[in-house]
Amino acid sequence: MTTAVGSVFSAILDPVNRHDPYPLYTSLRRTPVLPAPDGSYVVSTFSSVAALLHDPRVSSLTDAPDLLGLPPSFLKLDPPSHDRLRRLATRPFGPPHSPHRVADMEPWLASLAAELIGEFPPSTVDLVDQFAYPLPVRVICGLLGVPLQDEPRFRAWIDEALNRVEPERQALGDLAEYLGDLVDRRIDDPGEDMLSALATDNGPDGRMTRAELVSTAVLLLIAGHETTVNLIANSCLVLLRQPLWLERLMAEPGLIVPFVEEVLRYDPPVQMLRWRTALADIPIAGTTIPQGAPITLVLAAGNRDPEQFADPDRFDPGRRPAQHLAFGDGIHYCFGAPLARLEAQLAVSALAPVLMRARLLEDPPVYRTSAVLRGPRHLRVALD
Ligand code: HEM
Repeated sequence: MTTAVGSVFSAILDPVNRHDPYPLYTSLRRTPVLPAPDGSYVVSTFSSVAALLHDPRVSSLTDAPDLLGLPPSFLKLDPPSHDRLRRLATRPFGPPHSPHRVADMEPWLASLAAELIGEFPPSTVDLVDQFAYPLPVRVICGLLGVPLQDEPRFRAWIDEALNRVEPERQALGDLAEYLGDLVDRRIDDPGEDMLSALATDNGPDGRMTRAELVSTAVLLLIAGHETTVNLIANSCLVLLRQPLWLERLMAEPGLIVPFVEEVLRYDPPVQMLRWRTALADIPIAGTTIPQGAPITLVLAAGNRDPEQFADPDRFDPGRRPAQHLAFGDGIHYCFGAPLARLEAQLAVSALAPVLMRARLLEDPPVYRTSAVLRGPRHLRVALD
């Protein structure tokens, strides 16, 4: 039995199923906590995923090799080190110290979206290459103070690192070295950006060490755009496939807020969280996850759980409750969620009039290979 159900998870990881893993998630949920053949436990129902996201017996620590000797980022740490670094990173980004940072970005975000749309060629556009990717990259570069002209270099490293089933260590090491040089320049000559603020902060927790700063910069640069690309692209795909929602959005612009929230539920940019570890035996959903076992939390399967969402495969921005798992939950709840939401809302609103005259040229589109960060690699449309 373990092998048969275990093979469902293998099929989910297999890139041939990337265009539509949702029927496989339905099979997976039949065993809410699945012992996989490799000794890990795959968790797929809403209630079990949510419970484990809040469970202090589940650790995010990893024994993966360091990047050039750097400490893990706070994504991969447990309290108290996680909490200290997250507090430090929050000071220049959000409440209580910087409550307006994200909201103040709104006019700039809207102008970036308009600029990209203004550069579209007249007949055919790749909505990923020409919109969904460059927008979040410009945003995170501007926020952190990473020069946009270096994008081709870091794009190559990040592509190599993420679009494989197992991360490529050398590419991440090169990225860390590049960001280390940048951090050194910001320490000597700070600007208005977030890396400069982190490098020179004098708050109650003191400052991050240089190594912590570099790890945080790697985390923010990657997490800050690779996910939002998928959210914008997945939103476009819903609107192109279900034009009813496009018409509703054009008629009622305020619908964009619940629309983006429903895309986060229906087709989440981060499909699963891998490599958590049980610190103790954890009885859950009729199974006991043994101490030391690796755990995978399948957010995307939880988001389509019929026990939590009526008619879960239907796209419906009006559903209540709308709570989903796309940003995780608990102490690691997405740090950038307010920015990601605002960015996607503004991007999709700006793009809606263009989508009214767009036709999808390839359906399903080609997907990125990663089973974790799932989204279209290209989204080519013809403009009429
Ligand atoms: C649609 C876009 C996004 C999605 C779907 C997303 C999703 C997630 C998820 C699921 C987690 C939890 C990871 C875990 O529990 O292990 C997370 C954490 C995180 N996200 Fe996001 N994210 C997005 C955008 C962003 C942006 C724009 C930033 C930065 C500005 C960001 C920075 C982070 C950081 C730093 C963490 C680690 C938080 C912690 O460990 O305390 N994310 N994100």
